[in-house]
Order: sequence, then C-alpha cells, then structure tokens
Amino acid sequence: MMNTLVERVKSQVYSIFKEEYSGHDFHHIDRVFRMATFLQKQEGGDLEVIQLAALLHDISDHKLNGGKLNDGSRVARALLQEHKADVILIDNVCALIDKVSYKGALVKDEMFNLEGMIVQDADRLDAIGAIGIARAFAFGGSRNRPMYEPDEKPQLHTSFQSYAGSQGNTINHFHEKLLLLKDRLHTATAKEIGEKRHQFMLNFLEQFEQEWTSEYYD
Ligand code: ADP
Ligand code: NI
Repeated sequence: MMNTLVERVKSQVYSIFKEEYSGHDFHHIDRVFRMATFLQKQEGGDLEVIQLAALLHDISDHKLNGGKLNDGSRVARALLQEHKADVILIDNVCALIDKVSYKGALVKDEMFNLEGMIVQDADRLDAIGAIGIARAFAFGGSRNRPMYEPDEKPQLHTSFQSYAGSQGNTINHFHEKLLLLKDRLHTATAKEIGEKRHQFMLNFLEQFEQEWTSEYYD
C-alpha cells in the first residue's frame, strides 16, 4: 500500500533533522508530532493539518538557516508541493508554520485556529520541564553561551528581531522565554501537562541558585 502523505513527509523531515544536535534534533520534531497527535485526540481539530504542521514547524528555523525570519512556510510549501499535496491542505498548513515559534516576551502570539494552537502547545511543552532544561543548555552550549552570568539581567524582548539577535546566558533564557510559556499555552490538556513541567523548572532554578551561592564557597 502507498504510504500516506503524513508518513512520507515524516520520513523526509526526520532525515533532514538527523544531523542536528542543538536541541532541534529529530527527536524534538518527533516529540512535537506525538504530543500534537495526543492533544488532537483530546481537543479535536483536523488531524492531517496538525500532523503536517508539527512535522514542518522548524523546517527553516532562523537559528539554523542563517538568520532568515519567517522563512518556514515558504520551505514547507515547496516540500508539500513536491509531494503533490492538495492546494487547500498546503494553504492550511503553511498559514500556521511561521506563527508557531516564540518571538519574544512582549511579542503577542497570533495563532488563530485550533490546529495552530495545538501545534504551538506541543512545541512549547517540549521547551519546558526536564527536556526543556536540557534543550536550553544544549542550545546555549552549541552557541558558546555561558550557562550563567550573575551580573547579566534578563531582557523582555519587544520584537522578534531583538529576541532572535539576543546572545544572553542560558539561565536568562528561562526568564526571557521558558518560565513565560505556561501562561501562553492554549488548550486545557496542554495547560495541565505544562503546570507540572513548569514547577519542575522552578525547582531546578531554585536548586541552581542555592548551589551557586552556597556557603561552602564563602
Ligand atoms: P521551539 O522549537 O520550542 O520553537 P526554539 O526554536 O525557540 O524552540 O528553540 C529551540 C530550543 O533552543 C528550545 O528548547 C529553546 O528554549 C532553546 N533556545 C532558544 N534560544 C535559546 C537561548 N538564547 N538560550 C538557550 N536556549 C535557547
Ligand atoms: Ni520546535
């Protein structure tokens, strides 16, 4: 039997991300795909649009494509056209892609339908909790960023451009993004999962601070 469109896109996208290790590896795409599939089961929405948008949401990320912002829908469209996907399906998927990623603490999210909200929730759940912590330090390390610099203050970015250009330490990234995600989840199912992961990050940061300022160093 012929593979479905989702299966074909999945194997192509997974092979593209196989060589990426900075927190955007194919396991990230796979977790987002599976979490989005789970959220759809609880919350509804068009499964095919959700699964394709989940697979393609990082297909041209600015951190990996040389700095181009909002380039994902263009690349996703070309890829889906190669697979001869239906034009309306392509439009529905591509309308979501550039809206998924986080663009700064003070930049408003513009997600407009349930399918997009589910993909954004799945992506954000993967940025928090234990895996989110690991991804942040893996990403920071890949960019030669310090884990922490006590004298640097976090910045709440007002534009995607300034957020994308930020060079801060990884602990600051928690205050600039990761701790803010819990309140920017859309669906009830994701909010419930996010609550636990958020608490785990707070515990981590508290322990980190305790060890950093420990009396043993006095
Ligand atoms: P997502 O795939 O969740 O949209 P991003 O594309 O924004 O996430 O980033 C990929 C991963 O790298 C995420 O886990 C994110 O938190 C992490 N990351 C992004 N920017 C930074 C940064 N400045 N410092 C540390 N980690 C970062
Ligand atoms: Ni992602």
